[in-house]
Amino acid sequence: MLIENPQPNQRFYHSFDFPDRTVSGDWDLRGRFDEYIGQVQVRGRTLLDVGAASGFLSFEAEKRGAHVTSFDADSADRWQLGPGECIDYAYYEAMRNSYSYAHAALRSGARAIYGNVYSMADAVEPHDIVLIGQILVHLRDPIAAIEQSARCAKQTIIIAEGMMDTEEPTAIFTAGRPGYSWWYMSRGIYRQWLARLGFEVKAFSEAKYRCVVRDEDIAICSLVAERVAPTPQRPTP
Ligand SMILES: C[S@@+](CC[C@H](N)C(=O)[O-])C[C@H]1O[C@@H](n2cnc3c(N)ncnc32)[C@H](O)[C@@H]1O
Repeated sequence: MLIENPQPNQRFYHSFDFPDRTVSGDWDLRGRFDEYIGQVQVRGRTLLDVGAASGFLSFEAEKRGAHVTSFDADSADRWQLGPGECIDYAYYEAMRNSYSYAHAALRSGARAIYGNVYSMADAVEPHDIVLIGQILVHLRDPIAAIEQSARCAKQTIIIAEGMMDTEEPTAIFTAGRPGYSWWYMSRGIYRQWLARLGFEVKAFSEAKYRCVVRDEDIAICSLVAERVAPTPQRPTP
C-alpha cells in the first residue's frame, strides 16, 4: 500500500517502509543507505545524523547497530531561505511530525536534539561518526557547519552532497534559488577544509539517487574522512 503523506500534518522528506504501510517522501533512499554513507560500518558506534529531516538515515543506522542522535533545526526560522522566499512553518511542523511518526512506528531508541547547526557543538557531545547528508547545500556558510561537525566527530565524518568532481578548491554560487540552495562545492574544497580541521578524506563515491518531488535521479557524492589530528581550538577572544 502506498500512501502519500498519510496525515495532513505529516510531510515525509524520506520514503519509508513501515511495518503496516509504505509512505512516499521527497527522496527515496530505500535500499541505498550503505552506499549513501560510503559503506562505513556503524555497528556499536555512536552516530550523529545532522539535518535528519524525517529520520530515514537515523533509523537505518540504528537498524545496523549504531547508537544514534538525530539533529535538526529547532524552528523553520533556521532555514536560510532565498530573498522573497516565505518561511513555511506548516511544512516544518509537518516534517517534524513525520520524524515522530517514524520514530514511533519503527520503535526507535534514537535521541532527537533540535537546535541550530551553526552552534551544534555547544549542544551535542562528540560522537564516533558524524553524518552530514544534503544540508550543506542549504546553508549560506557550509564551511562553518563543517567546522561544527568536526568538533562533534571523534573518528569519522561522512558528507553526502552534490559535489563538483575536481580537486580544484572551487565552488559555484547558486544564489539561494528556489529550494534555498547556496553553494555547489568541489571535492577539493571538502578535502582541503577537512584537512585544516584534522580529517583526512579516505574516499569519494558518487551515485544517483531518486528525488521523488523532482521526478529525477540526482548525483550525490559520498565522502568519508577519518580523524588524523585534533581539531584546532578557536583562540579565546
Ligand atoms: C535536505 S534535508 C536533509 C535530509 C537528510 N540528511 C538526507 O541526507 O536525506 C536538510 C535538513 O537540514 C535541516 N536544516 C536546515 N537548516 C538548518 C539549520 N540552520 N540548523 C539545523 N538544521 C537545519 C532542515 O530542517 C532539514 O531537515
